[in-house]
Amino acid sequence: MKMFVVFLILVHVSQHVSAVYDMYEGDQFVLLHCVFPPVELDTVMWSRSDLSPFTVHQRQQEGDELKNQNQLYSGRTSMKPDALDTGDLSLNLTGLTLSDSGTYTCSVRVFGFQQRVTDVQLQVKERFPSWAKALLVLLVLLLVAVGLLVHFRHYFMSGYQVDVDSGVESVQLPCKTTVRLPVDAKVEWTNSRDNKVHVYQNGSDQPGQQFYRYKGRTEMKRNPLKTGDLSLTLKYPTDEEKGACSCTVFSREGNVLMRKVVMLQVKVPQVDVDSGVESVQLPCKTTVHLPEDVKVEWRWSFFTNKVHVYENGSDQPGQQFFLYKGRTEMKRDLLKTGDLSLTLKYPTDRDRRTFTCSVYSREGNVLMKKDVKLQVKDCQVEVEEGVGSVQLPFRTTGDLPEDTRVWWRDSNNRTVHKYQNGCDQLEEQDKFYRDRTEMKDDLLKSGDFSLTLTCPTVRDTETYVCVTTTTNIWRMKTVMLKVKIRSQDKDETVDIRNRSRSTDPTPLMAEQSV
Ligand SMILES: *[C@@H]1O[C@H](CO)[C@@H](O)[C@H](O)[C@H]1NC(C)=O
Repeated sequence: MKMFVVFLILVHVSQHVSAVYDMYEGDQFVLLHCVFPPVELDTVMWSRSDLSPFTVHQRQQEGDELKNQNQLYSGRTSMKPDALDTGDLSLNLTGLTLSDSGTYTCSVRVFGFQQRVTDVQLQVKERFPSWAKALLVLLVLLLVAVGLLVHFRHYFMSGYQVDVDSGVESVQLPCKTTVRLPVDAKVEWTNSRDNKVHVYQNGSDQPGQQFYRYKGRTEMKRNPLKTGDLSLTLKYPTDEEKGACSCTVFSREGNVLMRKVVMLQVKVPQVDVDSGVESVQLPCKTTVHLPEDVKVEWRWSFFTNKVHVYENGSDQPGQQFFLYKGRTEMKRDLLKTGDLSLTLKYPTDRDRRTFTCSVYSREGNVLMKKDVKLQVKDCQVEVEEGVGSVQLPFRTTGDLPEDTRVWWRDSNNRTVHKYQNGCDQLEEQDKFYRDRTEMKDDLLKSGDFSLTLTCPTVRDTETYVCVTTTTNIWRMKTVMLKVKIRSQDKDETVDIRNRSRSTDPTPLMAEQSV
């Protein structure tokens, strides 16, 4: 099993590469990670710019599209079936060969816009040369391992649970043993996703083997192998680190000598707002002294996309993920007050997320981390059939550029209304909605993208999505409309009476007098 573990070594190798995978020729597979917020994606493409054709793998709404795939990768690539829905765009590359070494780019197309998501580097090395020798050694090791497994088996099952609040300075994950461990043993702490949290080997910590998000945030006691106290201190635990953390001890030969599992629970404060509020504040306060050159970063948990960045004494909109451009604000005197709360304007259902607020020193060390969960209520509109019109509300920040496009769609992907180049584009509108929709006049200035739908009937009961885009801004909202049958229409006899009354009042009067 150990053979297939991916060694995700470090980040910041070059400015563009976000991860480096070290693999060996003949390894069964490697999973190249790429995540993107699950927003309606048209296409995902994995490519290598040094090849021609450059396509390694392509996925579209309809499924894999491998027409332009480079022959080198034929039959060796796959992505999760639900990748476009979940946003987990990782590529599984099987049967590794030396020529697979290179830089892989994961990019997406969203509403016609191409976005580069991440670059990762894969290095495939030649495998250990002498097989016969290795095999012999393995056999001996196997026998030793079986013996050790039997001896230590009672250590495998034990577990603990540790509960903390998000934002605490540190948490200790206990792992103790009374068994004497060999001095050349290796201790490895991993999280529930199998990322390496901390590695101790050859008498010292091995930060190079650590998953980048744990850099500078972990600590083990001195001489852990001698004392048997392998407990780990994790600074600023966050929501994404909760779950089963394992502490595993390997012999020099790589056999498991001991494993303990600690369940880490991180409680995250939640902020609840109604859909349609003008803004919401995601709280994050610190008492830590903040140096002048501090970096504050708000992002979605699990995602690398940045929601807001404050660095070198000012906001850095250039680093911001396009869903948040123009919608975020931090306090002016945050260095003095330690109030790092984020104001998010016009939150919608697309912002239902756990956000992480992180503070870094200039050297990149974590000074604080805290999570906040944002809950935005569904936007539900309910009317009775027979009303003249209904409004599907969508307000966002105004003063948007001329090239803003607005697109209202229903759940069957029919175009309800489209606006582009400063006017309505109704040739693309589905005939079901013809002459029934209207938007505001100065929508780009006011940021009011609400749609008026006239004469709603029960057939308009739908989930509508509105997307507005410019080259680098993106806004989205879902509105659930429910059109009910008029209450007096439910009773058929009443219905008949109403109708006859409207056409010819005389028979009705006769009926009433009976
Ligand atoms: C990658 O694909 C191989 C072959 O289909 C499969 O055995 C392996 O489990 C896959 N890996 C992951 C992480 O999905």
